[in-house]
Amino acid sequence: MSRIKDGTTTDVLVIGGGIIGLAVAWRTAQRGLRVAVVDPDPGGGAARVAAGMLAPVTELQYGEEPLLRLGMASNERYGAFTAELSQATGLDTGYRGTGTLAVALDADDKAELSELHAFHQRLGLTSDWLTGREARRLEPMLAPGVRGGLLVGGDHQVDPRRLSVALVRACELGGVWLHRAEAVELLVEGDRAIGARLSTGERLLADQVVLAAGAHSHQLPGLPSGVLPAIRPIKGQILRLRIPPAYAPFLSRNVRAVVRGGHLYLVPRADGELVIGATTEEQGYDTVVTAGGVYELLRDAHELVPGITELPLVETSAGLRPGSPDNAPLLGPTALPGLVAATGHYRNGVLLTAVTGDLLAEYLTTGSVPELAAPFSPDRFAARSLT
Ligand code: GLY
Repeated sequence: MSRIKDGTTTDVLVIGGGIIGLAVAWRTAQRGLRVAVVDPDPGGGAARVAAGMLAPVTELQYGEEPLLRLGMASNERYGAFTAELSQATGLDTGYRGTGTLAVALDADDKAELSELHAFHQRLGLTSDWLTGREARRLEPMLAPGVRGGLLVGGDHQVDPRRLSVALVRACELGGVWLHRAEAVELLVEGDRAIGARLSTGERLLADQVVLAAGAHSHQLPGLPSGVLPAIRPIKGQILRLRIPPAYAPFLSRNVRAVVRGGHLYLVPRADGELVIGATTEEQGYDTVVTAGGVYELLRDAHELVPGITELPLVETSAGLRPGSPDNAPLLGPTALPGLVAATGHYRNGVLLTAVTGDLLAEYLTTGSVPELAAPFSPDRFAARSLT
């Protein structure tokens, strides 16, 4: 696409070039619309920090069944989504069908995990109960005291950094115009969103504007109040270790547990990276890595897999999950005509990237909200406060 000049109109302007915004842009351009993305650093954002577990079942919380349906739909299409991306770009996304093993470290954990197993069974989900010995047979690096486990064969992984790079490339090759600048104001004319003003002073106009700015989504100047609920930043600190070839395969699948009330997971990649995450902290827009955060992750991971202390620690980082009031995403048209939301994905941004791209592209090209997206209407919060 040729360079858009000040005031030029395109069909769709996506504000935010993280993996959600890029997937929406790529899929929408594939359907023939002219699409621009504005972001100072396309492919950046929370995905650069995320571990990349694709875990609709093991991330499931009680009472979040509608989200489960969306997550399962995204998980089912992930293999084809990443294969198509790789074919389009020649780039690997690190998608691996590893499965996930959730383990219990003590009798209380075991009781909780067994309740979770019963919950899975009521919902018709596939998860298999293992004794501690069976869990250790699958993953010999687990602590000897592990009391039991739940094997979820369908919860896989992708490498979010590779995925980001591939999505940027797919957008470039697919004719999406990536505008490397910041959107500093949403432009509204009458009662309609018409585009954005950029940090460069330019104005980009569009028939439809998609807000996909993650934890910063509701802060965009010019956004009328009440159109989006507050999206709160939920900090996650994460560690990256390296598995030397002599130690491989250190772990063969994602391993997770609830330790001292926190979700702990270890994600082993084919290239030898081992990601350990993550803290969950409500600290505002703070992405400082703290000694306490690193200590807690290493302490808890050591309880689960004692051998991690032998591995080189190569990176610590922190990112911001975009949390909506009900922890489910906001997908589709907002109360402001012309403004469409693709945000609030909280703990499931990487998982939901595939389905979000498809659902938003369908809405943007047809004007109809797909059935799968309907429970995630951004209007649901306004409706609740009226009743
Ligand atoms: N999905 C894992 C996390 O948000 O930490």
